[in-house]
Amino acid sequence: MKILLAWGVALLLSILLLVIPRFANAQVREISVLPQPATVTTADGSFILRPDTLIVSDKANHKTGNLLAQWLRNATGYSLKVKPREDADNTISLKLDPALTRLGDEGYLLDVTPQRVVIRAPGEAGIFYGVQTLRQLFPPAIFSSSAQKGVEWTVPSVHVEDQPRFRWRGAMLDVCRHFMPKEFVLSFVDLLALHKLNTFHWHLTDDQGWRIEIKKYPRLTEVGAWRKQTRLGHERNPRGFDKKPHGGFYTQRDIREVVEYARQRHITVVPEIEMPGHAQAAIAAYPWLGVTAEPLEVWSRWGINANIFNPSEKTILFMQDVLTEVIELFPGTFIHVGGDEAIKDQWKASPQVQERLKELNLKDEHELQSYFIRRMHTFLAAKGRRLIGWDEILEGGLAPGATVMSWRGVKGGITAAKSGHDVVMAPTTHTYLDYYQSQDPGELPSIGGFLPMETVYQFEPVPEDLTAEEGKRVLGAQAQLWTEYLPTPGHVEYMAFPRLTALSEVTWSLKERKNYADFLTRLNIHEQRLQHLNVNFRPMKTPPVK
Ligand code: ACM
Repeated sequence: MKILLAWGVALLLSILLLVIPRFANAQVREISVLPQPATVTTADGSFILRPDTLIVSDKANHKTGNLLAQWLRNATGYSLKVKPREDADNTISLKLDPALTRLGDEGYLLDVTPQRVVIRAPGEAGIFYGVQTLRQLFPPAIFSSSAQKGVEWTVPSVHVEDQPRFRWRGAMLDVCRHFMPKEFVLSFVDLLALHKLNTFHWHLTDDQGWRIEIKKYPRLTEVGAWRKQTRLGHERNPRGFDKKPHGGFYTQRDIREVVEYARQRHITVVPEIEMPGHAQAAIAAYPWLGVTAEPLEVWSRWGINANIFNPSEKTILFMQDVLTEVIELFPGTFIHVGGDEAIKDQWKASPQVQERLKELNLKDEHELQSYFIRRMHTFLAAKGRRLIGWDEILEGGLAPGATVMSWRGVKGGITAAKSGHDVVMAPTTHTYLDYYQSQDPGELPSIGGFLPMETVYQFEPVPEDLTAEEGKRVLGAQAQLWTEYLPTPGHVEYMAFPRLTALSEVTWSLKERKNYADFLTRLNIHEQRLQHLNVNFRPMKTPPVK
């Protein structure tokens, strides 16, 4: 009897020992979705992807179906077929369901059972985001670009119901201080999509380079896209110049390619054409755009300089011509016109500009900047577009309907929201990813500042000072990647990840679903994905890359 009991206990113990770790493992390994979905309910069992699994897609989602097949192909070696209408097991189906209006434009439902995977959404963007979640439910090796042997491609049974908190979930990339090749821009867009970010703010013109081909004014890129040399060392502690020409630009064909690539990934590209400051490359190309008659070169240093557009009628018409071509290339609603750091010294010193100020009956140079920006606003509005600019555009009075990107803290955003303007939060305190991410002396040299990942994660885009109604003016938030000290795509990735992953959770996930400790646990798995994707991210636990 005793022996029987002992056998029984031993048997029970071995069963428990076998089952518990599997169960625990499944929980830890597999549910690690970033950004955190609104609700995730797990169930027993899992779906196994097989070489003959079908992707079933209605016509509207065919492109997303093909993208999914492509994303699964590299690591699994399976060439999954994408077919319309097929109601069967062993399928992944993508179905529009207009009745699911409660999920909004970008929400989705994802159901995984051992028999099949079903993604439903009221819109195509939702289906796309459901697919992003599905990718993250596979083992991390699914993100590899080469065939992985011996991996079972399972997805745990799960029900996910999800939708974003904000409609503007963005990242800005400066390609002026250092030109970034088109191939990198495309891979950056892919990384935004993986994180369910939907806005790529492309900073295309600045003192150090004009990067967008404008057919009517070819010198903008012939001259403005190239600088003689680049500052060595930090601008505060310079070590001369590298004496190597630097430059590059995107042809209109390149731009169309990037915009279309982004569109297929449900990302809107917001171009930024800077005015009236950060104008030196344009003035170098067409000197009459400037205030002083002095010839200028495309700038080789970092920082802010006093060269500014002449606010003449001729310049305004020139910039409107530029915007005409920009509008043709970028179908999104918003066009960014910069407006930041426009030093007014040259306007103050110029008799001609002072004469114009009087003629227009304006009080001061801030009002003159406002006049300049308003002219762009009216121009864009007549073409059905909306103007957005950095928070300095508030200073001399802002045209109704203009949107403010608040970078000098959230103060400008609060003022704008209270006076009825839409706002995108982009404060240096929480979203400037060109700032140092640790105080380790071995960090890659950067512009300065200190912005650890937890600070990014804890950002709350809707300030408490706003009423519920005013809070609705906050469209969302975005990260900034200025590239003065980021000369290569590898540098950009190192500064962007994983902090941009943290920002994706700020903009997508419900406030009450955010939890930093839990984020870090999920990030452990996410780092493996980034590794498979060959992203030069900054690992959490290992020393920084030199
Ligand atoms: C900015 O950082 N000058 C917008």
